[in-house]
Amino acid sequence: MNIFDSNWGKTLSFFTVFVVALAAVFNYLENSETDEIPRMDLNAMEENYRQKNRTCFILGASGETGKALLKEIVERNIFSKITLIGRRQLTFEDKAYENLVQKVVDFEKLDEYAEAFHGHDVGYCCLGTTKAKAGAEGFVRVDHDYVLKSAELAKAGGCSHFHLESSKGADKTSSFLYLKTKGQVEAEIEDLGFERFSVYRPAVLLVDREESRPAEWVAQQFLGAFSSVFPTMSISITTVARAMVVNTLKDGEKKVEILENKAICNFGKIGAKK
Ligand SMILES: NC(=O)c1ccc[n+]([C@@H]2O[C@H](COP(=O)([O-])OP(=O)(O)OC[C@H]3O[C@@H](n4cnc5c(N)ncnc54)[C@H](OP(=O)(O)O)[C@@H]3O)[C@@H](O)[C@H]2O)c1
Repeated sequence: MNIFDSNWGKTLSFFTVFVVALAAVFNYLENSETDEIPRMDLNAMEENYRQKNRTCFILGASGETGKALLKEIVERNIFSKITLIGRRQLTFEDKAYENLVQKVVDFEKLDEYAEAFHGHDVGYCCLGTTKAKAGAEGFVRVDHDYVLKSAELAKAGGCSHFHLESSKGADKTSSFLYLKTKGQVEAEIEDLGFERFSVYRPAVLLVDREESRPAEWVAQQFLGAFSSVFPTMSISITTVARAMVVNTLKDGEKKVEILENKAICNFGKIGAKK
């Protein structure tokens, strides 16, 4: 029997065509994004920023990107105070983390915890869940409602620079719930009018996650193996975290900025040079 007469053969052919088409699309996107890596004196920028005595909060510091971000921020010592806002108390063994302030909040009643959001210059949001974990409603609740409410409270509390980890393809007009939700929350936070609002749109996160996420795992295996062929389709969490920090140090930048995967990679590379 000819293999292409069987269902397996058809599936295989379809998959091959799909992968090639996907590669073409991403190759186009790859070439349409800027490849320029800005020159920066990171040490001088860190020192300059340190002098400003800024404070920050992180939402989602127990998550994969949030953990990496926290590590970068603690190691670089660029803030005079770091507050973690989350639904549970975290424990750290490393002494470097002993001065962290933690605020445990109930995200369903965030208005009652407005004080936790007061007095921070900079806010980082790496919150998020999945439809598989929380259902469609639960996903929107976390990735939209909790994120937007947190941003509102942060703005009211005096935060001037808000960083949002969104996603590649975020688009409020998308028919996909995930991309639509990400796009909507980006747009609504932009309307809050932060002095500076930085949106990060990473592709698939390359991460060694404890929690089981089969779809993400399959994507990671494929994209990790072909990361040099499809550089815009994946990114490590350390790179995202470093990009967030480097971008923070670029004080006085434009009011609203969207960093696509390529720009995140470029900033991440700068952040890797310690
Ligand atoms: N995975 C990807 O490939 C990918 C790609 C592009 C963008 N993104 C986006 O990047 C962001 C960070 O992703 P990640 O994989 O680093 O995150 P993650 O590891 O899943 O961590 C998510 C964080 O959100 C918190 N959280 C989740 N559900 C919550 C709830 N119901 N109430 C309060 N807090 C809750 C978690 O707290 P607990 O520790 O207490 O659960 C954790 O701190 C997300 O917005 C995600 O959509 C992901």
